[in-house]
Amino acid sequence: MHDRILVVDFGSQYTQLIARRVREHQVYSEVVAPQEALERASQGPLRGIVLSGGPASAFAQDAPRLPVEILQLDVPILGICYGMQWLCNALGGEVQPAGGEGTREFGHTRLQVESSDPLFQGVGPETVVWMSHGDRVSRLPEGFRRLAQSPGCPEAAVGDASRRLYGLQFHPEVAHTRQGSLLLENFLRDLCGCRGDWKPANVAEECIQQVRRQVGEDGEIVLGLSGGVDSSVLAVICQQAIGSRCHAIFVDTGLLRAGERELVQHTFRDHFHLDLTVVDAADRFLAQLQGVEDPEVKRKRIGHEFVEVFREQAGRFAQARYLAQGTLYPDVIESVAAHGGPTAVIKSHHNVGGLPEDLDMELVEPLRLMFKDEVRAMGRALGLPEEMVQRQPFPGPGLAVRCLGEVSKTRCETLRQADRVVREEFEVRGEHRGIWQYFAVLLNVRSVGVMGDQRTYEECCAIRAVDSQDGMTADWVYPSRDLLQTISTRIINEVPGINRVVLDLTSKPPGTIEWE
Ligand code: XMP
Repeated sequence: MHDRILVVDFGSQYTQLIARRVREHQVYSEVVAPQEALERASQGPLRGIVLSGGPASAFAQDAPRLPVEILQLDVPILGICYGMQWLCNALGGEVQPAGGEGTREFGHTRLQVESSDPLFQGVGPETVVWMSHGDRVSRLPEGFRRLAQSPGCPEAAVGDASRRLYGLQFHPEVAHTRQGSLLLENFLRDLCGCRGDWKPANVAEECIQQVRRQVGEDGEIVLGLSGGVDSSVLAVICQQAIGSRCHAIFVDTGLLRAGERELVQHTFRDHFHLDLTVVDAADRFLAQLQGVEDPEVKRKRIGHEFVEVFREQAGRFAQARYLAQGTLYPDVIESVAAHGGPTAVIKSHHNVGGLPEDLDMELVEPLRLMFKDEVRAMGRALGLPEEMVQRQPFPGPGLAVRCLGEVSKTRCETLRQADRVVREEFEVRGEHRGIWQYFAVLLNVRSVGVMGDQRTYEECCAIRAVDSQDGMTADWVYPSRDLLQTISTRIINEVPGINRVVLDLTSKPPGTIEWE
């Protein structure tokens, strides 16, 4: 049993970030909705609770609340922003509504630390924190003391050391709070007594055991391997759990990047001895895409074809009753927490792991408690090559959504070669480090050029490089002039069919990362 911290989700955009930050200190954390917090608290040993911020005003009719019994659990509690306000309110303190000028604080703020409480150990008398609040605590509950203040918020950090209850008006989880990580560490280690026992190698071993337990002595697993980090880690875990009773299926859709199939074959067959079926289905996918220009139709056809191919292949393993999927924790949290109404469908996503329920197989999801960075760390601990662990995201529909207009075999090959050049050059110069994605897009635009005194009339390729934390929003990246120049020259010289290269300068929103 690991030390466990509950993160109660009051609807903050940072809730998942809090849970990840806790895990960065090697402490297991779970995100729970307020209404289920009490029940989850009783399911196993609990070291502490963090209450997230939230968009609601403490005065709103429908402001989220926790059952007050949570305060009787005798574990340390850290309330952040709205979480602090709820805590103080519930214990008899007072919250003041956002008033006029000077009472709201957003952004960087100087914090004066007034206490040597263990929470602030090592922080120093003054530090910079990130604030984002209107309401604030105006009178402390009995037993509470002020620990720190900011210009706009006298009660910026408060606590009752004897009951181990704390509140921070600022956000320790965001990187702008300079010593946020130290504050969280103090809370987790010194106040909650967590040992830091959530380590990638141990966790990977536990996942392996868990798969073994679930499928038993003779159960067989089928899984879809895309070569992305999630399905790769999943495949290694299942292989190590049950060896040749795990059957992986890799579908070559003909829409993959240069070298991808070879890398997967080499890594999983030769190195991990995985029972791997590589299906060459390029012709089937290209046939589905013939004459199709509409991005949504492309996505849907690829998704359907993928399921068909997978179904046929999985049918070859008649004994297999289990389907392994690389579901991650953020997908699980999204489905429990109340995050507002339905959002508009911008693109119908297709994931290699996301297969339909009517396959009538029992799901094996050993990664369902993991965040992406933890999956990467597990991949390393399991011996996956760095190239796979650090792989940039690649959409399920592959090059098709980067090949605007009709996807023919020739155009797909043209794009594949251009994309190879982009990736090689970013990587050789190290400019890929720290950015989210960098790739080529083939536009359905032709333009006139001149090469060797001859007129050309060929296709145009865009370079797309973006930085992002989670793919939800993104900034465009400006690669160095040298890099751009080399990429452009190489594409035009080496890739037949392209005579012009342009750079995409659109962030998300308003653009999306992929063009289709
Ligand atoms: P967009 O284009 O929506 O992409 O801004 C956000 C992130 O998601 C990736 N992406 C996909 N990933 N299946 C996936 O597994 C898909 O269908 C898909 N479409 C987009 C995209 O590469 C970016 O990282």
